[in-house]
Amino acid sequence: MGACEVGLPTVVPADGLPARVTIWEVGARDGLQNEQSVVPVDVKIEFLDRLAAAGLSILEATSFVHPKWVPQLADAEDLLAALSRVDGVRYPVLVPNDRGLDRALAAGVRDIAIFGSATETFANKNLNRSLDEQFSMFEPVVTRARAEGLDVRAYVSMCFGDPWEGSVEPKQVAAVGKRLMDMGCSQLSLGDTIGVATPGQVEAVIAAVALDGVPVDAVAVHFHDTYGQALSNTLAALRLGVTTVDSSAGGLGGCPYAESATGNLATEDLVWMLDGLGVETGVDLDKLADTSAWMAERLGRPSPSRVVRALRG
Ligand code: HMG
Ligand code: MG
Repeated sequence: MGACEVGLPTVVPADGLPARVTIWEVGARDGLQNEQSVVPVDVKIEFLDRLAAAGLSILEATSFVHPKWVPQLADAEDLLAALSRVDGVRYPVLVPNDRGLDRALAAGVRDIAIFGSATETFANKNLNRSLDEQFSMFEPVVTRARAEGLDVRAYVSMCFGDPWEGSVEPKQVAAVGKRLMDMGCSQLSLGDTIGVATPGQVEAVIAAVALDGVPVDAVAVHFHDTYGQALSNTLAALRLGVTTVDSSAGGLGGCPYAESATGNLATEDLVWMLDGLGVETGVDLDKLADTSAWMAERLGRPSPSRVVRALRG
């Protein structure tokens, strides 16, 4: 057992957990896409630089979506032109369609993520496509990106509930996820867009996805924390063998096209739990909490992360 110091959890490992977890940091994309105001490019760059300095190795940087749909990220080209990429750090971006891929390639991007929906209504609201039409939008993107040597992740949103359609069948999530993975994606991130999942449901969805042939080591989890369940859900996923977890520094986040979506699982809350469990992340919690406290000042409101508030409040 490690020493109990103020500001650090006592380390007590538990059985059945991976030795190491990769954190897919989405603060600069999922976090900032939902801000009322547009954060200046130089602040976004400092945010990304600080996150890299805190030890995060995957920083989802921005989206090449329609600028009218997400004005907060309309500066994607300017951001990537001014960003100095840190060696060993990946900077994936969201790309929905061919036009987005053209823009991403021109900006020198090497990692992209497509983002599908498990439900008809959200496909319509978020992509202006039917559930079925989303596949024909993504297919050429994945094919061309792979031919260009890019890595492609697939998100599926509304995996655990949809604000318009209610509950979502695990089989439906698995079917959408499988179709996206079969296009040539390397990882499937299961999104709880509105933060309603509970741990048994997480087990059911991951089991359904595995049954359809997507191995658990290709699965990532993406929890929003609306109902305070994100950490419990993460632990449930880790116990099933998931080793990539999406989170957002300071708990920023939400989706402008999903009613009742609030912030993502806070990276600090995740790192506190994993540090306490002795699971390696490579992240320096102190530097990370400083970064989120700094960002909260820029945004003019306190961070929703419990750990940031406990350490820096
Ligand atoms: P659309 O209006 O159907 O687009 O939008 P279109 O294909 O009909 O094209 C219309 C015009 O837009 C054309 O211009 C295109 O060139 C242009 P025109 O020829 O008329 O002059 N256009 C673009 N311009 C710049 N960049 C582009 C682009 N695409 C078309 N990429 C579209 C369809 C998919 C573009 C739109 O619905 C869109 O941008 N949606 C993105 C919404 C979004 O970003 N949501 C948040 C991210 S998802 C999320 O947060 C969930 C996640 O975190 C996981 C979870 O929590 O569950 C990932
Ligand atoms: Mg999200």
